[in-house]
Amino acid sequence: MSQGELERSLKKVSEEAEEGLKTIKNLEMLGDWYQAFLGKKSPFNAFFVALKDLSNEDKKEYGPRINTLRNQLEGAYASKKEALEIIALNEKLKDDRIDVTKSFAKKQGTLHPLSQVQRQVEDVFVSMGFEIADGPEVETEWFNFDALNIPGTHPARDMQDTFFVNHKTDNPKKNTVLRTHGTCIDIRKMCEKGAPIRTIAPARVFRNEALDATHDAIFYQVDGCLVDKNISLADLKGALKSVLSAVFERDIKIRVRPGYFPFVEPGLEIDIWWEYIDKNGEAAGRWLEFCGAGMLHPNVLRHCDIDPDEYNGFAFGFGLTRLVMMKYGIEDIRHLFSFKKEFLEQF
Ligand code: DAH
Repeated sequence: MSQGELERSLKKVSEEAEEGLKTIKNLEMLGDWYQAFLGKKSPFNAFFVALKDLSNEDKKEYGPRINTLRNQLEGAYASKKEALEIIALNEKLKDDRIDVTKSFAKKQGTLHPLSQVQRQVEDVFVSMGFEIADGPEVETEWFNFDALNIPGTHPARDMQDTFFVNHKTDNPKKNTVLRTHGTCIDIRKMCEKGAPIRTIAPARVFRNEALDATHDAIFYQVDGCLVDKNISLADLKGALKSVLSAVFERDIKIRVRPGYFPFVEPGLEIDIWWEYIDKNGEAAGRWLEFCGAGMLHPNVLRHCDIDPDEYNGFAFGFGLTRLVMMKYGIEDIRHLFSFKKEFLEQF
């Protein structure tokens, strides 16, 4: 390459590189540009070969000019690269943006239907001045049975298949059972606080039952009592109707029948009128057992040091699990405790 050709080539490369750079839009194009002007097969190889054949004077001029052009192109490449990288990063950040609130809201769960209905029931009773009480799941035989007017030999103990926790002794205050009902919590509270008292106890209870669509060995009840002066069955009926109307969000018809529970006299069974659409698509209804209840037996009040001549009161106990199943039309109790997301997501 003569000096004249070198002169023209340098100018051409400089112009083409500058023009080329202007059209570059991304790092890939910039890579190609680099290969073309500064890579292994770039025109600079030819420039340095040409330099060797030039006169000493021309070498002094063209040597530094070739180097300067190369440095300029390297510099232009570096700043273009930096600018493109920032653009690429911003693009990526735009796509990758994490909406923290969105993903959080999506994953948020809901209360289990049992907890929802339990809260509704609690709200209604609290509005009527009841306190919410709790007690131990491993209960003494005395609180579970004896204090409730169910002595050791009483056949009523067979009504509730009991899990005994210890080897039975003769002392019911030392024997322990998994509580078979929530009524023992009423008794504990009456013994602790005396009269007057209004208390309810949502309780997990245990019975040695075979598992099927409507029975489980573990289920939930709400038991409660009210002891004061001149209490009547009308008070009980009013309280239960208020709870049912709140849970079902409509007026619910109830029926009272005589029933037997050793700790209440008279003892009652309370049914609710259940309306549904039958197989033929016709409106139908039937009575469903809802609750055991009654006026507290004088012996029970005496066990808690409450004078039955001064005070009287009612007690009731219903299945919370059963209430939830009625409210949502759940046919199999096992769904409630399956913890299947598809099932629970409906509530
Ligand atoms: N504890 C009884 C049961 O689980 C239900 C019951 C009946 C509770 C009458 C009461 C009551 O408080 O007064 O079968």
